[in-house]
Amino acid sequence: MIPEAIRADFPALRSEPGRTVPVYLDSACMSLVPSPVLRAMEEYYGDFPGCAGRSLHRFAEEVGRRYEGARTAFARWLGRRDAAGVVFVRNATEALNLVAQGLTYAPGDRILVTDREHNSNLIVWQRLARERGVRLDILPLPDDRPFDGDAFEDRLRGGVRVVSFFHTSNLDGRTLPIREITERAHDRGALVLFDGCQAAPHLRLDLDAAGVDFYAISAHKMMGPTGMGVLAAAPGPIAELRPLLLGGETVEWSTLTDHALRPPPHRFEAGLQNYAGVIGAHAALDYLARVGPEAIVAQQESLNRRVSRALDGERRVRVLGPPDPADRPSVFAFALEGIDPHDAALFLDEGHHVMVRSGMHCVHSWYERRGLPGNVRASFYLYNDRHDADALVAGIEELLARVPGATGTSAAKPAAAPRPGPDRPRGAGSTAAAARSARPRHRAARGRAASGAGSG
Ligand code: ALA
Repeated sequence: MIPEAIRADFPALRSEPGRTVPVYLDSACMSLVPSPVLRAMEEYYGDFPGCAGRSLHRFAEEVGRRYEGARTAFARWLGRRDAAGVVFVRNATEALNLVAQGLTYAPGDRILVTDREHNSNLIVWQRLARERGVRLDILPLPDDRPFDGDAFEDRLRGGVRVVSFFHTSNLDGRTLPIREITERAHDRGALVLFDGCQAAPHLRLDLDAAGVDFYAISAHKMMGPTGMGVLAAAPGPIAELRPLLLGGETVEWSTLTDHALRPPPHRFEAGLQNYAGVIGAHAALDYLARVGPEAIVAQQESLNRRVSRALDGERRVRVLGPPDPADRPSVFAFALEGIDPHDAALFLDEGHHVMVRSGMHCVHSWYERRGLPGNVRASFYLYNDRHDADALVAGIEELLARVPGATGTSAAKPAAAPRPGPDRPRGAGSTAAAARSARPRHRAARGRAASGAGSG
C-alpha cells in the first residue's frame, strides 16, 4: 500500500485549524497536485523565466534544456524510442483534435469509435463526417463483459482509416486491450489513436511495443498542471499530420510568399509554449514514477473493492461497468434509485466533504441513448485511503436512508430522470429538496479532521 505520508505532499489535503480536509474522489476529472510539481513551476518563473528556442541568454538556455528534457522524459515513460513524436499540447482534447483534423481523408473513409467516447473523441469526428465526407462508425461495447475482439474485427472489414478509442473509460473505469486493438487494426490497414487520459495516470505504458500510432494524455489527471498535455506519436504516422496551428517555432525559414516547416515535433508547437506547465508535468511524471503505477493501481483497487463490498447488499445502488473492481480500479460509478445524481453529489459534498463528479461526464451520447440523467462517479488516486472510502460509503448510506426509493424496495434500476439532457447545474435535480433537507447529523469520521472542522 502507498504510505500515508504521500498525503502530506498534497497541499489541498493539508490539515490546519479552520480548514476541513476534503475527501477528494474526483481525480478522474482532475487530480491534486503535489508540492514538487508546484515548486518546479515556481522555480521556472522565479529562476529562469525565459522562452525556449529563441534568445541565447542563460534563462533561454536553461528553459530550452528543461523543455527538451521533459520531452525525453515523456518519451521514455510512454515507451517511445523517438522523442520527436512527443508533442506538447494543451490537453488530450487538443491532441485528439490534432490527429483527427491533421490527417488527410478520402471521401467515404471510415472512422471507428466506441459507443462511450468522451466528447473529445467524438465531436471532432462528427464534424469531419459532415464537412469532409468521412463515415463515422460506432462499435457498441458490452456493458458488463470484456472487450470482444471478434466483434471489433467484424467492424474492421471493408477498411477503416482510423480506430479512435479510449484506453481507460472515464465513464466506468474499464480498460481496453490496446495491443490487441492495435494489432487487429493494423492488420486491416487502419491507424490507431487512443485517448489515454484516464489510463496514463496509473498504467505503465510501452506504446512502441504495443505498436500504437497516436496516444493522447492530459497532465492535469496525473498530478500535473492544467493546460498541459501530450500527443505521443510514432515516427511514421506523425509525418502524415498537418499542423493545426502555424507560426513562430514551426518553420525553418519564411519569405513573404513561402515557408518551410520544421520537422516534428516543432512544427506542431506554434508560438510561445507553456514552459511552466511542461516543467511541472515533468515533475509530476517523476513523482508518478517514484510511487510506481503498480502501487497506485493496487491502492485504487483495494479502495474500490472496499466501497463495492460495503455497498454490495444495498439494492438501490447500481454500479456501472464491470462487476469486479479489479476491472475498473480507478472508478466507482453508480446510480442511486430515486435520487438525482447531482443531488447526491451535492449531499456528499455538503454533508460529508466527499467530492465526486455527477452528470454525464462529457459522454452525453451514452446516457442519451439510454435515457439516463447521468450518474455519480467517485474516482480514486494515490492519495486516497480507507477513510476516504468509508466516508463515501457513509455518505451514500445516509442519503439512501433519508430519501425513500421509488419502489421502497427494489433496485437494479438507475435513478429516475425527468428527461435526458446535458449536465444540469448543481442542486437542480428532482430530488434536490429531499437531499438538501437530509443534512447529515454527523461528519464522516476521518480520524484526521482538522481541529475546528465542523463535527456537527
Ligand atoms: N473527462 C473528465 C472527466 O471525466 C473531465 O471528468
